Amino acid sequence: MKKVLVTGANKGIGFEIAKQLSKKGLHVLLGARDINRGKAAVNEINSDGGKVSFIQLDLKSEESIHRAVEEMKKDHPDLSLLINNAGIGGNMEHGPMETDMRTLREAFEVNFFGTFELTRGLLPLIKENHGTIVNVTMEMASLAILSEGILPNSFAYNTSKTANNALMVGLARELQDSNAQIFAVTPGPTSTDLNDHYPLGKSPAEGAKIIVDYATDLKRHHGQMLMKDDKIMPW
Ligand SMILES: NC(=O)c1ccc[n+]([C@@H]2O[C@H](COP(=O)([O-])OP(=O)(O)OC[C@H]3O[C@@H](n4cnc5c(N)ncnc54)[C@H](OP(=O)(O)O)[C@@H]3O)[C@@H](O)[C@H]2O)c1
Repeated sequence: MKKVLVTGANKGIGFEIAKQLSKKGLHVLLGARDINRGKAAVNEINSDGGKVSFIQLDLKSEESIHRAVEEMKKDHPDLSLLINNAGIGGNMEHGPMETDMRTLREAFEVNFFGTFELTRGLLPLIKENHGTIVNVTMEMASLAILSEGILPNSFAYNTSKTANNALMVGLARELQDSNAQIFAVTPGPTSTDLNDHYPLGKSPAEGAKIIVDYATDLKRHHGQMLMKDDKIMPW
């Protein structure tokens, strides 16, 4: 495996993914929208012996996405693993009737449109390098699980992540005759800023490990939506 790009890696699960991949000896490009937060995260990992570089990447900005794609093509054409981790929760307490269009659009901007544009831009490198794309998904994005009526009806978050799952399926079809692969993994409930540090969640390092293990096990998981312990998440 050559180089790895992790989006939204200045904190939370993404930071731990970057740290764990770097511990495995991979050269990680740590994507973050804020330069200071991103560079602080890079320094933290590198001061512990890591090999991580910073790349500015704001998924709400087409300009930032296109700049990052050009930078990757020029300086890191050996990209072979993309982890689409960056995500926002929108207003997690709000169901559809309480959700305004602005919140909904914002969630889609990051969780779907920005992720789409970045992935589309980097797909030629991933294909060329027989690489892997991992989308970080979650249980509430599963229509089957959400229909059970137990998990929160967080409308902006859930719908934008369901769209992200559909993006994975669409790209899986696109890549079906190639040596590259794309799949989605959920870390399960994890205590981070996104959920105001949900007290029953696993630690970001534990959540990240589930993603890192699938991303580096050298197996073909193409088109799958995975939970921990080799379980498949229903659509
Ligand atoms: N926590 C859970 O229970 C859980 C469960 C299943 C799946 N997930 C998924 O795991 C992923 C990481 O979430 P987390 O829990 O680690 O949340 P987090 O701690 O809030 O981290 C989210 C990351 O995304 C970044 N981000 C937000 N907006 C961005 C933008 N416009 N452009 C680029 N990066 C942006 C954040 O950067 P800033 O610091 O600049 O805001 C941060 O680095 C998400 O995709 C989430 O849906 C989480």
